[in-house]
Amino acid sequence: MTANHPAEVAAQYATEQHLRTRIDTHVRYSVGPELEATFDGLLRLNGQEILLDVGTGPGEFPGRLRARGHTGRLVGVDLSAGMVEQARAHQSGVEFMQASADALPFADATLDVVTARHMLYHVPDVTAALKEFRRVLKPGGRFLAVTNSSTYMAEL
Ligand SMILES: C[S@@+](CC[C@H](N)C(=O)[O-])C[C@H]1O[C@@H](n2cnc3c(N)ncnc32)[C@H](O)[C@@H]1O
Repeated sequence: MTANHPAEVAAQYATEQHLRTRIDTHVRYSVGPELEATFDGLLRLNGQEILLDVGTGPGEFPGRLRARGHTGRLVGVDLSAGMVEQARAHQSGVEFMQASADALPFADATLDVVTARHMLYHVPDVTAALKEFRRVLKPGGRFLAVTNSSTYMAEL
């Protein structure tokens, strides 16, 4: 089984434990611009968009948007049932569903924004996932991903 096999990924994210280790490593060793401010600056939300966060983990990103006043519908999906459970327990005002990036439970052209933060490197068929994001986005909708560059954490 490869590292990106869905069963392997689901097992890795069955609980928050491994994710917290990843986040702590990013916080400790990342260099360059502050990620959240850069991400927010690129997204330029007006607060009313219907936004889907794919691979949402514990849902902190859509939870943060709701807490700071986003009024549009916010949805997070994740492959891992454990992450969806965590997200539902800790974030309010956000819908969470278990779903895979390449089979989203949305009709065509229904979303304003899709985000995929630190998750595309887990997806075995990135092209299929990108096609799925495009399918659910309205014409003119926006997609923003965060992923690692080839020199990421070279210092480490
Ligand atoms: C490194 S975590 C990032 C969590 C969150 N986006 C963040 O930035 O903190 C990667 C997440 O992607 C999820 N994931 C991996 N492959 C997925 C897929 N094919 N579809 C949906 N979620 C997936 C994992 O279960 C995990 O919660």
